[in-house]
Amino acid sequence: RTVYVNGVFCPEDEGRISIFDRGFLFSDGVYEVTSVVEGRLIDFANHMARLRRSMAELALKAPAGEDALLSIHRALVDKNALTEGLIYLQVTRGAADRDFLYPPEETQPSLVLFTQAKSLIETSAATTGLSIVTLPDLRWQRRDIKTVQLLYSSMAKMEAKRRGASDAWMVEDGLVTEGSSSNAYIVDASGTLVTRPLSHAILPGITRTAVLRLAEETGLAVEERAFTVEEAKAAREAFITSASSFVLPVVTIDGARIGNGQPGTITRRLRAIYLEEAL
Ligand code: PDD
Repeated sequence: RTVYVNGVFCPEDEGRISIFDRGFLFSDGVYEVTSVVEGRLIDFANHMARLRRSMAELALKAPAGEDALLSIHRALVDKNALTEGLIYLQVTRGAADRDFLYPPEETQPSLVLFTQAKSLIETSAATTGLSIVTLPDLRWQRRDIKTVQLLYSSMAKMEAKRRGASDAWMVEDGLVTEGSSSNAYIVDASGTLVTRPLSHAILPGITRTAVLRLAEETGLAVEERAFTVEEAKAAREAFITSASSFVLPVVTIDGARIGNGQPGTITRRLRAIYLEEAL
């Protein structure tokens, strides 16, 4: 693979970052994951807008302008002949002597990008659906910022796997916040799509914005409110969204079957129209 590290394209085993990089020492950085389908970037401008917001919230200096970032993304697609998969971008506060305080203004942020070739459209999860376990949301209180501080999400996925499930949904005060790396939705008995409103409690998913717009365009009732685990278990359908999964059905939650235990019809329709628009 060809990767990008601080101004240079190089083979992946030649990419170097300082051991003093604050991303490494303090998780002092933010990231984006943009999907590529048929060689095209999906929703690129919105991913860059969220990146800009994440950087602003942490007073991180932008390492490059948006035009440059687009050129780097496109170059990586070309150099790696990427037709389907993901592009990962990470910005950190750069390398400085270890200190909790931010380093001097002139410290250069680090910028790293790499590709991951991956089947996103034809996946077994899309046909069989996901099994979900619920876990307490022990992440920090600013989940709206896409930081690289992902240890708890990683622990949650490991716990889900240990229990034989596909992934975890996070729960705070009895209410579902989001998936370990996705936004969470249910379709209630009346056919209303329910998902948690944006706040500091969840990441403002780029796929979420697109899917809510498509849902409204197709005449679905959409309600942005938090829902309980009990409500989710009793829902007609459940699903997740993210740049790496688009829309994926959830068929069990803590062992309880959702609907008839098969991917729901509204979920499948939303996945289809999302992909139709993306392609
Ligand atoms: N994760 N919530 C969390 C906690 C996430 O990590 C993600 C994305 C989402 C969905 O956001 P989007 O639709 O913009 O991808 C919601 C990415 C894919 C990841 O960490 O790999």
